[in-house]
Amino acid sequence: MLHGHEGWRKDAQKGLRPLAGAVVAGRRELMTNAAPIIEATHLDKFYGDFHALKDIALTVHQGEKMVICGPSGSGKSTLIRCFNGLEWHNSGRLVIDGIEVHEQSRQMRGLRQEVGMVFQQFNLFPHLTVLENLMIGPMKVRRLSRAKAEETARTYLDRVHIPEQADKYPAQLSGGQQQRVAIARSLCMETRIMLFDEPTSALDPEMINEVLDVMVELAQSGMTMVVVTHEMGFARKVADTMVFMEAGRIVESAPPERFFTNPSSERCRLFLDQILEY
Ligand SMILES: Nc1ncnc2c1ncn2[C@@H]1O[C@H](COP(=O)(O)OP(=O)(O)O)[C@@H](O)[C@H]1O
Ligand SMILES: [Mg+2]
Repeated sequence: MLHGHEGWRKDAQKGLRPLAGAVVAGRRELMTNAAPIIEATHLDKFYGDFHALKDIALTVHQGEKMVICGPSGSGKSTLIRCFNGLEWHNSGRLVIDGIEVHEQSRQMRGLRQEVGMVFQQFNLFPHLTVLENLMIGPMKVRRLSRAKAEETARTYLDRVHIPEQADKYPAQLSGGQQQRVAIARSLCMETRIMLFDEPTSALDPEMINEVLDVMVELAQSGMTMVVVTHEMGFARKVADTMVFMEAGRIVESAPPERFFTNPSSERCRLFLDQILEY
C-alpha cells in the first residue's frame, strides 16, 4: 500500500502549497530510520556487446527521494527500467522491497504493482477517456470492480488537481495535464515506489511547473521516488540523494548540499556547470 497517502490527501484538501523547508527538515530523519526498499549491488547490464551499466551499487530507503542526472546515454533510463522489470540486469543483485529481481523471477507481476513509472512520453491510451485510462489498470491488474476503480480514479485525479478533465480524451488535454494524468494512473495502482524518467522533458516550458508541483506534493506524502531529471530546482527542493551517472557508472552520489556545492568528481562539476549556466 501507498505510505503517507493520508498526509497528502489532507494537504491537498486544504489546498496547501508545498513548503520546501518542511521537506528539508523531515527528510534526514526519514533516511536514517527507514529500511532499504531498493538495493542494487554490482549490477551490470549489456545490450549485446555494449556495456550499459557498470558495477552499479545503490540503496534507496523507504520514503527517500533520489534524483539521477547525467549526460544523455549514460544509462539513467536503463538503470531505472531495471527497477520495474522493463530491462534485466545481466549480473549482480537487485532486491526491491524484498523481491529478488531477475529475469526468471515469478514475482514480476508483484514487482510491477509495487513500482510505477512515469515516462517522458505520457503513453496514455488515445481512444480512452482520462477516467478510463485511470480505471483500466486497477480493473485488469488489481481486479477492482468498475465502481471501485472509478472511485480510485477520481480520488487520484483530484490529487493531481484536474478532476474536471475526467471525461476528456488525452488529445484534448495539454501536455502538462496529460503528464499529470500519467502520474495519477500510476498512483491508481497503489504503487509503493514511483520512478520518473525525465517527466518534464517533452513539455512546453510553461507546463513544467504544474507537473513538478504535483511531484513535490507526492514527495511530501512520503512516497519513495527515483527521478531522472535535469530540473535542478526540483532536485534541490526534494532530493535526499543526488546521483550523477556517466558512461554506465555512478560517478557521484551525495546529499544535495554537498552535490551542488562541492562535488568530488571533476566530471560532475563540469556537467553541473553546463546545465546550471543559464
Ligand atoms: N534497447 C537498447 N539496445 C541497445 N542499446 C541501448 C538500448 N537502450 C539503450 N541503449 C544504449 O545504452 C546506453 C544508455 O542508454 P540510456 O539508459 O537510455 O541512457 P540515458 O537514459 O542516460 O540517456 C546508450 O548508449 C544507448 O544507446
Ligand atoms: Mg533516458
